[in-house]
Order: sequence, then C-alpha cells, then structure tokens
Amino acid sequence: MKPSRLLSLIALACSLLAGIALAAEPQVSDEQRSALKTANADPTLAPDLLLPAEDMAWWRDAKFGVFVHWGLYAIPAKGEWHMFNDKVPAAEYAKLAQRFNPQHYDPDAWAQLAADGGARYMVLTARHHDGFSLFASKASWGQFDAPHSAAKRDLVAPWVQAVRRHGLRVGLYYSPLDWRFPAYFHPKEMPENARELKQQTYGQIQELMSQYGRIDILWYDGGWLAHQGTDADAAWFWEPDRLNRIVRKLQPKIVINPRSGWQGDFDTVEGDAPIEGPIRARPWEKTFSINGAWGYVPEGNVKSADQVVDAMVNAVVRNGNLLVNLGPDADGVVPPKQSETLRGVGRWLHRYGQAVYGTRPGPLQPVDGIYGMTQRGDKRYLFVQRWPDAELALPVLPGKVTGVRNLSGDKVAWRDGPQGLSVSVPTSRRGEPFTVLEISIAADSR
Ligand code: GLC
Repeated sequence: MKPSRLLSLIALACSLLAGIALAAEPQVSDEQRSALKTANADPTLAPDLLLPAEDMAWWRDAKFGVFVHWGLYAIPAKGEWHMFNDKVPAAEYAKLAQRFNPQHYDPDAWAQLAADGGARYMVLTARHHDGFSLFASKASWGQFDAPHSAAKRDLVAPWVQAVRRHGLRVGLYYSPLDWRFPAYFHPKEMPENARELKQQTYGQIQELMSQYGRIDILWYDGGWLAHQGTDADAAWFWEPDRLNRIVRKLQPKIVINPRSGWQGDFDTVEGDAPIEGPIRARPWEKTFSINGAWGYVPEGNVKSADQVVDAMVNAVVRNGNLLVNLGPDADGVVPPKQSETLRGVGRWLHRYGQAVYGTRPGPLQPVDGIYGMTQRGDKRYLFVQRWPDAELALPVLPGKVTGVRNLSGDKVAWRDGPQGLSVSVPTSRRGEPFTVLEISIAADSR
C-alpha cells in the first residue's frame, strides 16, 4: 500500500474513532465504510488471474451499467441492511421468504428499462448479506433460496435470459458474508460454523458460475470479516485467490471486481461523493443508488438524470464506468421516479453517447468542475461542465485540429493556435449538465 493511502486510511480510522467517542450511536456513512473496506488492492496476490487487456475492452467500452438490489429486504422496505441494523433474529427474518411472492416480476421489463437508459450491462444481487438466494441453490445453508420461498422458482435464470435478449452483458453480485452465521463475527472462535460459511460461499459461487451459461461480470461484496478492516485483511479466511481460480476455470473471461479480497480486474468506488482528480491508471467503476438506499425503500431523494450524467461523464473522463442502482419493490416493480431518471439518462446518451461509449479518457487531464475529455480514433470529445469565461482555452492538444462541432447541433466558435485551442458557445446554447464538443484531428498529424 502507498504511504499516502495508508495515511489517509489512518486519518479516516481516527475520524471514525473520534465519532464513536463523541456520539453514542456513530453514523458510519456508506462512503466511509466503503473507503475502509475497498482500500485493498494487493497486486502480489495471484496476478496471473487478471484478465488480459483485450478481454477487458468490452467492459471499458460499455461505460454504463444498471445495478439491481432485490431480495426479501424489499418487503420490510427499510433497505438491504434491515436484518442487521434492526437486529432481526435470523429465524424471524427467514419468515419473510414465505411472503416473497412477486406477482409483477418481469425481468424483460427491467432489461428493457436498462436498455432504454443506455446501459450496456446489468448486475443483479443474486445473494446479499442476509443470506437469501434469488437462485436455486443446493449449497444454500438451510435451503434459504427462491425455489423454497413463496415465489417457488429460480428468479435469476429468467433474468439472465432477459438481459441477454436485450443485448446487454450479464453481471451477478454475490456477498460472501452471510449474517446468519455467528462465525462471520467470530471466525476464529467458531471454526465449525466458519467452515460452513466458507463452504456455502465456495458452493454458491460454483453454482452461479455454472448454472446460467456465460456470465460476464462477477461483483463480490463483503469479503471483509465482522464488518471490520478491508476485504484484503480477510484473505486469510476466504482465500480469494483459490476462489477466483475456480471462477476463472468455469468462466475464463469473466470480469471480476476487487471485493473478494483479491485485487480484481477493476477498482470499485461506492457512494455519492463527487468524482475528482486525474485520470486513473486502472479501470474503475463508480457505483451509487438512484434512490436513498440500495434495497427498496419508498422513493425519497431520487437523483435526477442530470446528476447521473454528471457522475457518468466525470467517471468516464477519468477511465471509469458508472453503475447506478435501482431498488425494485417486493412485487418486482421498479418505482416510477427511478425509471424516469434512467430514461432521462438514456435520452442524453442517445444524443451524446458517441462521446462516451467505446472511448478512452484524455488526451488532456480533466480539470475538476470545468472540463474533461475522451477520445476515439481521430475524434476528441470535450465535455464542458462550467465555462470559466466567455471562452475556454485548452492547453495544446497533440495533432492538428481540423474542425470542432457542437454535438447538440448548436454553433461553436473555435480558434487553434500555438497556445492551444480556444472554444466558445453562446451562453444561451450551453448544454446542461455539459456542452459536448467533438474535435477532429487530422489523421496524419496524430
Ligand atoms: C454498500 C452497502 C451494501 C451494498 C453495496 C453496493 O457496501 O453497504 O449493502 O450492497 O454498497 O456496492
């Protein structure tokens, strides 16, 4: 780990401890928790498991995915941490399975919505921390799975088919941790229970990797132990190198996130914090929920399409993807405001997607809050978020500029000189949340 990263972790840990000292019930935000647990890249652990660049290309081209958090927790409607946060005993929580009978579960409608939103992949919570599996799972401890619930069927199988039918890539989320096992909190003190927990994880990962044909993304969450430390700190227990070796055998080209404690093929950043800083060397993915929680809660503070586009562009110009989450209700319906936001993103992408999909960041570094760039072939795309002045003066771009076009169809004035390129758009024609300009570079001058 880099010393600067270590220092910021120590600072974060101190501020969390200070919070505990001051308040009886410390509120740890998703952001803080996630910064702690995901600061885990250990590049020396099984580097041979990393996907070669050519197999990561589709994921880097895709840019935008839709996450779905769905499970029994949609019934009490208090978010996916309800069982733990409200201290619901496992036996009590398990009764929800007999009430889980989604009448309007229509995976085609979900996939259609994601496609309308411009997403190129989807990720579904096959099993969250509560231990309930949406799929048919012989390895599930206590047969806590959808076929043994009121739904009486595997809910992952039709979803995988629907997502494929809509031309999207298929991702499965899986949480190694399961709150039903006391050993999750006391792995060393309860070796037999810990063994069962680990056996369930290995068994279920093998089921997910072999029951549904090709899977494109494996999205782990919660490789940590007792909700403490980082995912990598718990590698002694989960042996993520061994686990992912099994995964690679069954799904040689699957893209794996870093949350099993192995570094994974890309980095994960959770939460609503603004995206800033330079282009990151490793591919990464920002993820947050459109509504206030990941799992279903009544719609409150739903993000607007502009907010989602803002995050997407700011991720993409820094080598990232965006995965936005929907929380369908217990009946399988995606609440209306979340759908509306996603459709708004789709309309924006329909117009400006050529500056997003299949691009790579640069060549200029982004300037926080002002602009960022992407590129593909002899085109450079400039996303202007805030105009510092009547015109925006850029540093010198490699290559000879032959034209600048405003992708909205509106006018743009430009001037290229030894100091660099200057562009301007009339104030009334500036786009929200971005003005998107396409810059052409002479092919022989690159
Ligand atoms: C946070 C939440 C967890 C959710 C995850 C998605 O870690 O605590 O419930 O599944 O984010 O990335």
